[in-house]
Amino acid sequence: MKNSLAALALLPLLSCVCLAQQQSVRPGINDSFSNASTEDLQTFVERFEKEGREVFDARQEIINCCQLRPAMVVADVGAGTGLFTRLIAPNVAKVLAVDINQNLLDHVAKSAASDGLKNVQPVLCTQDSANLPANSVDLVFICDTYHHFEFPYKTMRSIYRALKDDGVVVLVEFDRIEGKSSDWIMGHVRADRKTFTSEIVMAGFEEIELRDDFFETSYLKRFKKSKRVTDKGHTVDSVAEVKANLKNGTAVLFDVREQSEWDADSLKQAELFQLSELGSLAAEPEKIKARVPEDKIVYVHCRAGGRALRAAKILRPLGIDVRPLSLGFDSLLSQGFEKKAK
Ligand SMILES: C[S@@+](CC[C@H](N)C(=O)[O-])C[C@H]1O[C@@H](n2cnc3c(N)ncnc32)[C@H](O)[C@@H]1O
Repeated sequence: MKNSLAALALLPLLSCVCLAQQQSVRPGINDSFSNASTEDLQTFVERFEKEGREVFDARQEIINCCQLRPAMVVADVGAGTGLFTRLIAPNVAKVLAVDINQNLLDHVAKSAASDGLKNVQPVLCTQDSANLPANSVDLVFICDTYHHFEFPYKTMRSIYRALKDDGVVVLVEFDRIEGKSSDWIMGHVRADRKTFTSEIVMAGFEEIELRDDFFETSYLKRFKKSKRVTDKGHTVDSVAEVKANLKNGTAVLFDVREQSEWDADSLKQAELFQLSELGSLAAEPEKIKARVPEDKIVYVHCRAGGRALRAAKILRPLGIDVRPLSLGFDSLLSQGFEKKAK
């Protein structure tokens, strides 16, 4: 109930964030990184890896907050010169250094190799996706980079897919406070911590920890993937949230009943993907992914909620954010969903 109310309060924000995702929320903010040449690398190293930069001075506290373990796969998204990639690597199985600039990644690979680190793998990503395989990462580390995401909703959704079920995001950001922060922070960082947190929650996460005790102008937050399901496994998204997500294009709805039930009556907003067909394609995930969008919330409904749960069991391991509805066809109609015209 508490979760649903909180999410309802965020509905207007969701529509802003999603509308903004058709275009960059901050065009030009990455010009210096996108165009960085090999000659610029030394300047970046001098800027990011020096005493006096708050996150450099607090680097050990930051690493402690990550709670790293030897078997972990970590993605350092917005790796930059690799400062944190090299600090994380000795503590885990593998670090994926993710960035939009290949020259920076070449530098990270070289500097890791010269430190004798064999478990660093560079990953070139795009402005709207971290470009990581589904269900492959235990922890995503994002330092001084979230405010550089031009498509924060899409990037965070790609991170949501990449994280394993119990995966965690560690965010380190500048604390933008009206009347207190420096002119540089006010001009460079587009929003305050409340707004960034709401955006991340809307992308499917839940805040689990805040640390701002060892910073003056930054904060660190840990988030986990929000399960938002009932004991049985149905989504706790309210009908209003489901409708809003379908309307603003962040979600789709699949009817997993059988063809004969669909032919008798169906919902205007739904597409048919019979559970029997879904089951028969379970061994061919590419065929399922060709029909079910990976970058959207996928609601599934059936007659009474049972088959929706079974469909979710097939779709979730493919990295799809599937949310089975407990409400069946008739209940959805009575809650204001419309019938498809015949
Ligand atoms: C301010 S630097 C921070 C570097 C590093 N995290 C650190 O704290 O030293 C921001 C980095 O994010 C990268 N970046 C910007 N947008 C990105 C995106 N959408 N996905 C991944 N990296 C991005 C930039 O190329 C740059 O290397």
